[in-house]
Amino acid sequence: MKCRRCGQPAVIDVRRHNAAFCADCFVHHCREQVKRAIHDFRMVEPGQRILVAVSGGKDSLALWHLLRELDYEADGLYIGQGIGEYSDHSRAATVAFADERGWKLHEIDIRGEYGFDIPGAAHATKRAPCGSCGLSKRHLFNKAALDHGYPVVATGHNLDDEAAVLLGNVLRWETGYLGRQHPVLPESPGFARKVKPLVRMGEREMAAYCVIQGIDYIVEECPMAAGNKHLGYKDVLNGLEEQSPGSKAAFLFGFLERGHEHFAATAGEERDALGRCRECGSPTSNDELCAFCRLRERAQGVDAPVELGPTRRRNRGHARSARPTSAG
Ligand code: AMP
Ligand code: FES
Ligand code: ZN
Repeated sequence: MKCRRCGQPAVIDVRRHNAAFCADCFVHHCREQVKRAIHDFRMVEPGQRILVAVSGGKDSLALWHLLRELDYEADGLYIGQGIGEYSDHSRAATVAFADERGWKLHEIDIRGEYGFDIPGAAHATKRAPCGSCGLSKRHLFNKAALDHGYPVVATGHNLDDEAAVLLGNVLRWETGYLGRQHPVLPESPGFARKVKPLVRMGEREMAAYCVIQGIDYIVEECPMAAGNKHLGYKDVLNGLEEQSPGSKAAFLFGFLERGHEHFAATAGEERDALGRCRECGSPTSNDELCAFCRLRERAQGVDAPVELGPTRRRNRGHARSARPTSAG
């Protein structure tokens, strides 16, 4: 296997591009893919500062690294969710990464600042933890961006993540979610812009990028098995990709080019009709309390252990070797 760009021995193949690369040319390829996503979807305007949401996983650390390499003014944001040792490890990886490079990292500890954590929220709502977790993260990413004056928030969602979410939304024809599924959610009153610059990069490529660049990331999965259904969708899509390389990208980019616009109008109308939360001032469809403040009211002071999600229960004992992490 030879590198497509320079002809030296290759270290990784990317079947959907029908290509293989040596380490240096692979790094160049990753930068080009991120540049292209930012350009094609107009994610960032010249001079705009970016707040990168970092979890200590391969995707978000690689994203922060890539944005800095591309000369963006990008600072990090870590949210402590209080998910036992998993949160301790993810914080340690994130802080070490930022400290080694002298890069600015903002931190929010949900328990310290809001008096609850994700295990407590899952217990109080009697729902899967991923719901409270996702809701809290989205709220706090946005709040931190507005508080610290970042017009753009970037997350490490990659091609595999986005294709799996799309599959889930199509299976149930979730028209509202389909309207909002895009690598860029534009800014609007009370909302910073949200961007996903890794949308052209596969999970395996992000792991390879970290290894090549010497980035230490946590391989551990969230023990509460965030996005469990999505892991199943990823398996299905990996099966299709195996048979027919390029399927995932064709599925996602076909939707973005030809399907998304049909659902986008509904999403825009929903945003325009939003009121303000009486507690925190965030945009909300229910003009009393936003979903985050309602969750906080229910979960404050609730003390619950980290419950193992279904995947972990089934895989207990060999969970570590079961699959590469989906942590972003
Ligand atoms: P996930 O929802 O865990 O798949 O993560 C998706 C993206 O959200 C990651 O790539 C990060 O950009 C961001 N993210 C996840 N967890 C955290 C966290 N604890 N703090 C900050 N950002 C996070
Ligand atoms: Fe959100 Fe586990 S529940 S990362
Ligand atoms: Zn609120």
